[in-house]
Amino acid sequence: MPVTVSPAFAWPTTVVSMTDISHTLIIGGGSGMGLALARSLLADGLEVTIAGRSRDRLDAAAVDLGSDRLHTAPVDIADEDSVRRLFQGIGRLGHVVVTAADMSHGYAPLAQLPLADARGVIDTKVLGPWLVAKYAAPVLAESFTVTSGIAAYRPAVNGTVVATANAALEGLVRALALELAPVRVNAVSPGWVDTPIWTSLAGDAKDERLAAMAARLPVGRIGHPDDIAAAFRAVLDNGFLTGTVLHVDGGHHLV
Ligand SMILES: NC(=O)c1ccc[n+]([C@@H]2O[C@H](COP(=O)([O-])OP(=O)(O)OC[C@H]3O[C@@H](n4cnc5c(N)ncnc54)[C@H](OP(=O)(O)O)[C@@H]3O)[C@@H](O)[C@H]2O)c1
Repeated sequence: MPVTVSPAFAWPTTVVSMTDISHTLIIGGGSGMGLALARSLLADGLEVTIAGRSRDRLDAAAVDLGSDRLHTAPVDIADEDSVRRLFQGIGRLGHVVVTAADMSHGYAPLAQLPLADARGVIDTKVLGPWLVAKYAAPVLAESFTVTSGIAAYRPAVNGTVVATANAALEGLVRALALELAPVRVNAVSPGWVDTPIWTSLAGDAKDERLAAMAARLPVGRIGHPDDIAAAFRAVLDNGFLTGTVLHVDGGHHLV
């Protein structure tokens, strides 16, 4: 509902409703870090829309979150028409966060990585956020935040395209921070975090892989989605932060 103001205090510019300003769109919010962020925002009484490709995943997340301030919307950020449709009729937004990425075909030795698979990673990790920025800009009031990753700094063997995509995304953040100003644009860069992405990357070896990773980190553990949700909250809430990459990686960048 729009804010009602008396004529004596009428503001000279368009009044954005408080409901809209408190509305955050999380693309990728059906699972992992995005889902943890949705839970955190809802717990503070804010309005949230989670978006992703799988209707089943969004429905399961909605049941899990169980809030009448939660909305769901289908989108594939690799598809411009789909992104355009998402923003038609969504109304004013305070914040947009992108955690979506499809890395399932991103890891392979250079000689065995088909160009189509490399492009698939770039499409969701780099051009997806670029498309979201393009269509979100007219309705976005406060901040745009994307999800980079430790691979930009500590690339894995057989991870050329994943390292490239994360580094490129951070370049996009700096450019958008100027072009979308005064909307703030930042990246959160997670280290290894226990989310469903590892099921697709490691399969049955997930627990073993994560335990081995934990032993290598200064903090001695893998990240939890709530660790990253807290970092997103810090970025969303700090009005002096823009063009920045916030590292939340248990010290991974040091080892
Ligand atoms: N987990 C880690 O260790 C780690 C480390 C560094 C960086 N990251 C980055 O952190 C971000 C969040 O990952 P996560 O760990 O939370 O994984 P996740 O649970 O797999 O979340 C990714 C979400 O993105 C959605 N998605 C994937 N492709 C999409 C597309 N084309 N359009 C719209 N939605 C799409 C997925 O839902 P649908 O499949 O239903 O679309 C899913 O809900 C990713 O960018 C990832 O690269 C993760």
